[in-house]
Amino acid sequence: MSNKMWGGRFSTGPDAIMEEINASIGFDQRLYRQDIAGSIAHATMLAQTGILTQDDRDAIIGGLTEVLDEIETGAFTFSRALEDIHMNVESRLREKIGDAAGRLHTARSRNDQVATDFKLYVRDTIDTLLVQVKDLQLALVTRAEDEAETIMPGFTHLQSAQPVTFGHHLLAYVEMLGRDAGRLADARVRLNESPLGSAALAGTPYPIDRHMTAEQLGFDRPTANSLDAVSDRDFILETLAAASICAMHLSRFAEEMVIWSSAQFGFVKLSDKFTTGSSIMPQKRNPDAAELVRAKIGRIVGALASLLIVMKGLPLAYSKDMQEDKEVAFDALDSLSLSLAAMTGMVKDLTANRERMRTSASAGFSTATDIADWLVREVNMPFRDAHHVTGQIVALAEQKGCGLEGLTIEDFKFVDQRIDSRIHKVLTVEASVAARQSYGGTAPTNVLIQAARWKTLLTGTPHEPRPLGKKKHGGHGDGGVE
Ligand code: ARG
Repeated sequence: MSNKMWGGRFSTGPDAIMEEINASIGFDQRLYRQDIAGSIAHATMLAQTGILTQDDRDAIIGGLTEVLDEIETGAFTFSRALEDIHMNVESRLREKIGDAAGRLHTARSRNDQVATDFKLYVRDTIDTLLVQVKDLQLALVTRAEDEAETIMPGFTHLQSAQPVTFGHHLLAYVEMLGRDAGRLADARVRLNESPLGSAALAGTPYPIDRHMTAEQLGFDRPTANSLDAVSDRDFILETLAAASICAMHLSRFAEEMVIWSSAQFGFVKLSDKFTTGSSIMPQKRNPDAAELVRAKIGRIVGALASLLIVMKGLPLAYSKDMQEDKEVAFDALDSLSLSLAAMTGMVKDLTANRERMRTSASAGFSTATDIADWLVREVNMPFRDAHHVTGQIVALAEQKGCGLEGLTIEDFKFVDQRIDSRIHKVLTVEASVAARQSYGGTAPTNVLIQAARWKTLLTGTPHEPRPLGKKKHGGHGDGGVE
């Protein structure tokens, strides 16, 4: 039997393989809510403009509401022969209300319909992701306040570089996530134009009101070019690009969790809730959640690459190639959402080992730059010379097998006569971080100011910086020493 939705000129139905390659209902059924909302807006507008009678409109909207309920309660049977969500819904509507259902598709096509549905879906998803990004930011800011005075090694090339505060490190991710949220919000602004009523590609002769449907569906305006409207997939590409960058940030943070939670680093302990044991090695606690967040970017960037390749070289307007947009996009956006949730849980639950971080921060002559800075400040040495002198001091400490704070004042004077005992003050990691009060620097006071700024931004209510020295101690979950 030929397809009852479009098979008028066909004498037989599709080959089984044709049906398999053609059908999208297996994945696009998740657009049902957006599809029905779009159809209700369209029917409302058709009646308003006199294209549809009030009775037909009422029958259509009543029927669609029942179909929605059937899908939501699991009573609906999806059919692959009906290809996609659009025809599954319309066919069921016909079973329910008869011929009036056939009038719903006046002045539209599946091409503008699918673009509309997918935009609505991506918009809803962006809104959810934005809430999730904010949740993670808030979790990080809260931990950053508790760890404003916790000193850890800062790295470049993953070599100990200079001491930093753990709070400052956590706030670095809050900044990244802030930009991620900005990109997602930007994509949302640009996508928010309604394709509905562009019909197959050329517009329609019916006196429709596209502004009305746009408004009813929460779009800012209708799209201005029907060819563009049905063939544009920028909105999902842009969202996937923003998602890829966000996933890259999460992947970097996840990698740090993996490294930091190893026995060799021991900076943090991840909670039982976000780790697993080994079936053979009883001592193990594996950071699986972090590892999976580290890996999820593969799918997300994969989706972006996949869809860019699908779209590349496609002539205007709609081509069936574009049906390949949904599966990868759904998977990518689901993966980002899950990664954000897992990261938030991990951050809330992790325990910082402050002792361990501090000990590690003082290793590797990490305050050498502070000696050079002291020479510039107190002896008026040019920085390049101070760098050289400090190099000799480091070499001496290395020779003696001690840290910089293990050197006596005689040792310092042996390298340069002009050094005096005040040098000892700058050798501690506490002095090193406290001194870095330049805007954006790691000093605990800065961290508390930045944390308050972010709390104000994220919650919309003013927050004052927490005073220094109020770091919380205690057990699991609130950042205490183990
Ligand atoms: N399932 C299709 C898609 O996702 C809907 C649009 C079909 N349009 C068409 N002219 N066959 O792209």
